[in-house]
Amino acid sequence: MQKKNKKNILLINAIFTAICAAILIFLLRAPKETTAPLPHDDNHNRFFSIESKKEAELSCLSCHDKGKEAALPENHPPKYRCLFCHKRNL
Ligand code: HEC
Ligand code: HEC
Repeated sequence: MQKKNKKNILLINAIFTAICAAILIFLLRAPKETTAPLPHDDNHNRFFSIESKKEAELSCLSCHDKGKEAALPENHPPKYRCLFCHKRNL
């Protein structure tokens, strides 16, 4: 009885380790991040100094909405939180 228990624990540990390794490999193989970061230019520089993402995002659509000077492409993904995807890299 005792011996069987030990074997089971060993087996469970081995499975657990294998799953951890699989997840790690999966994450390491993820593609490079390709979404364009927030540009550093006259249009965007002021957003780097607004600490709150939510607050900074209030202005994005004043230029990026439909019919504005830099409208988003038709196939743009859902756009509620611009800065979660378009990172503010320093
Ligand atoms: C004053 C107008 C204006 C505002 C406000 C503005 N943008 Fe832009 N944005 C532009 C214009 C014009 C372009 C295209 C030319 C360029 O790259 O600067 C652009 C380009 C971009 C790009 C594409 C960069 C690339 O490499 O293709 C991203 C991403 C972007 N803006 C995100 C944002 C986000 C997020 C906000 C709000 C925090 C924002 N913009 C606010 C005018 C604006
Ligand atoms: C869910 C993630 C996500 C969110 C949220 C998001 N975007 Fe994008 N955006 C993308 C992807 C992906 C692309 C296309 C790939 C790239 O960045 O070049 C893109 C492209 C763009 C472009 C470039 C279009 C071009 O012609 O090259 C601009 C400008 C832009 N987004 C602005 C915004 C603004 C402004 C917001 C908020 C209103 C926003 N995005 C929210 C993921 C996102």
